[in-house]
Amino acid sequence: MLHIILFGAPGAGKGTQATQLATSFELKHVSTGDLLRTEIKNQTLLGLQAKPLVDAGTLVPDEIVIGMIENLLSHLVGYKGVIFDGFPRTLPQAEALDALLQKLNQPIKSVLTLDVPEKELTKRLLLRGETSNRPDDKDESIIQHRFQQYEQKTGILKEYYLKQNKLKSVDGTRSIENITADLKSICNSLA
Ligand code: AP5
Ligand code: MG
Repeated sequence: MLHIILFGAPGAGKGTQATQLATSFELKHVSTGDLLRTEIKNQTLLGLQAKPLVDAGTLVPDEIVIGMIENLLSHLVGYKGVIFDGFPRTLPQAEALDALLQKLNQPIKSVLTLDVPEKELTKRLLLRGETSNRPDDKDESIIQHRFQQYEQKTGILKEYYLKQNKLKSVDGTRSIENITADLKSICNSLA
């Protein structure tokens, strides 16, 4: 199975690129952010718990997202792998994912990082905030808080995957099409 992690700060283009790769390589696109927003929209118990955190740009507790992933990994019939978008985001999440995949004997093949400076990320997110209904895109202080969460809790995972020899960096400041082409060629070499 071709299990890939798309890694990067808020606004780096994970969702945009994951959609392309999922279609090209018949992968299941798993975005924990999208899953949480669906729970919020449907006003489920989980959604009600997550809403204040997601709206404020604070990570939700590890158990919540790990539970979601565990559930999804048992429903992969018809897919050639998973493209993880926005997961894992903490060390416990990365360790839990490795443990779950080890049981299936299907390790992560590669972790692709989209590198984009904060100034450009802020511009992208505020622009989307003008038309999207994501409260976490509308306010520059919430966007700053998302970057802080990323630095404090998520950045450490670069080291984790570097040690596993799985980390590859891609310049995420170019056009969407150029980035997709690079990512596709990396995935082709792994498939
Ligand atoms: P999540 O939904 O994962 O949001 P995020 O990572 O903060 O960032 P985005 O999804 O906004 O960015 P992206 O990298 O996907 O970029 P995109 O393609 O959209 O998480 C939201 C919240 O949910 C978290 O704050 C947390 O509360 C919770 N959560 C989620 N996962 C969790 C987890 N694992 N653990 C705990 N909590 C979790 O692009 C952004 C914009 O830029 C778009 O408008 C796009 O069109 C544009 N764009 C993309 N590429 C380019 C390009 N090359 N050039 C110009 N513009 C571009
Ligand atoms: Mg996203």
